[in-house]
Parts: sequence; C-alpha cells; structure tokens
Amino acid sequence: MQIAHTISEMKTLRSKCTGPVSFVPTMGYLHDGHLELVRRAKKDNPFAVVSIFVNPTQFAPNEDFKTYPRDIDRDLAMLETVKTDIVFIPSPEEMYPEGCNTWVDVEGITATLEGRSRPKHFRGVTTVCNKLFNIVEADSTYFGQKDAQQALVIQKMVADLNMNLKIIVVPTVREKDGLAMSSRNTYLTAEERPSAPVLYKSLQLASGMYEKGERDARKIVAAMTQLISTVPAAKIDYICVSDINTLQDVDTIKGKVVISMAVKLGKPRLIDNIILG
Ligand code: PAF
Repeated sequence: MQIAHTISEMKTLRSKCTGPVSFVPTMGYLHDGHLELVRRAKKDNPFAVVSIFVNPTQFAPNEDFKTYPRDIDRDLAMLETVKTDIVFIPSPEEMYPEGCNTWVDVEGITATLEGRSRPKHFRGVTTVCNKLFNIVEADSTYFGQKDAQQALVIQKMVADLNMNLKIIVVPTVREKDGLAMSSRNTYLTAEERPSAPVLYKSLQLASGMYEKGERDARKIVAAMTQLISTVPAAKIDYICVSDINTLQDVDTIKGKVVISMAVKLGKPRLIDNIILG
C-alpha cells in the first residue's frame, strides 16, 4: 500500500497503475461500511485508491469539523486488510490553496432533505469530489447507500458534467442491531447507543406497511414518528418520502421512493434511509 500526501505524488502513483482504477473517497475514521466499499472496488478492479480528507467546505461553522474523529494510523491499518493500493491523504492547504475560489453546485436535488438542514453542505461535497475525481482519474467510484442523497447528487453531477466515471452505490452496512455504520456513531454515549437502532426499526416499520399495501406517505411518516417518539432523547429533523429521482416529497407512493430521515440523538445527528418500490 502506497501513500500520497500531495497531488503530484498521487498523480505519479496513479500513472503507474496498469489497469482499471477504482476510487473510494472518505473522511477517515473508517468502519466496516468504508471497508465494504473498498472490498467491492477491489473485486471489480485491479487497483483501488482511497482518499482520507476531512473536507472543511462541507461543514457549516456550527458543525463538527474540528471535532470530527480522526485516526490516520488506525485507518491505514484497516485499509491494509482490504488490500488498498494507494491512500491519498492531502492537507487542507493542498486541496484548497490560497485563492481557490471555484465551486461546483448541483441545483434542485440539493435543496431538499439534508440540503434543507445543511444549506451549503452539498456544494462542499460536489466541489471536493470533483477535485478528487480530477486528481485520481479513476474509472469508477464507490459510494454508500447510507448517504442516499449524496450518491444521487454525485450521480447527477457526473451526468451533467459529462464526466467519464462509473458510480457504484453499495448497500448500507449495519451493526448487528441495525444501526447504520457511521464515523459519527462514536459520538453516541453508552446511554444513547441502545436507543440508536430506533431509526432502522422505523424504516422496517415503513417497509412492512408498504408490503401490506399502504401507499399514503403521511400515514407511513406518522407511524415512524410515533415509534421514534418512544425514545425521549431522539429529536426528529426530518422524515421524508421522496421520489427516487427528483427527491421531491410524494403524498402517494406510486413508483420507486426513498424514505430518508435525520434524527438527533444526543450529540450526533444520525441519518438513514430505505428504498421502496
Ligand atoms: O461521505 C463522505 O465521507 C464525504 O461526504 C465525501 C464523499 C468523502 C466527501 O468529502
């Protein structure tokens, strides 16, 4: 496994890859969800590049950029186990040198769900991903379904900008009790952690209602809200049933929809989703 800290080192290592290259962008503090992306990337391609970069531009001033968990040694040891070829660990100055003033902004689908609560978040994500894609020059890139809106926004950006990159979305990896793996789960206290699977339980409840024929989105959201309200510390930011392509809210489920949610449980704001239809 080779490590690049600068863009020029990354490009040199990339130029030595003799076959298709896959790319997994991350913000580090890895968990099995990230490793699953690398496993898939390595299964499909001879070379896998992983980036570790806590991207400042996707955090609002009141968010956790400074305290976001970081442990490069631990990450590198984990990446060795899944046979990562190249790890790119740039500094903020390397990615955003003085005077860097260009943004990539996908309109429309970024205005809903996470975008409503975190207005400039996706502009930071699409800008950094665009830069990383240009630096790594991969043939394919792997994203987790847990960040469903992020995966859709990246797909839209790649299509709209005619980028030559295949995007593979990999199912969410969960803890045994159903909690979606996330680096931010480390913020949960020992008291909060047992309640955290309530998000997944509410998604299962929604799926069960759908299987039994319920198509009224409001009824599904009401049942999910009621279940989550049994956890007093849980504060729902949103639960939405949205069209899978436009991410606009639907009242009646007709085609494929994504039910997504964000719930604050103590310090962390947990997100999860399920696709129905
Ligand atoms: O999902 C993440 O970890 C980040 O949003 C990403 C895609 C690495 C961009 O910083």
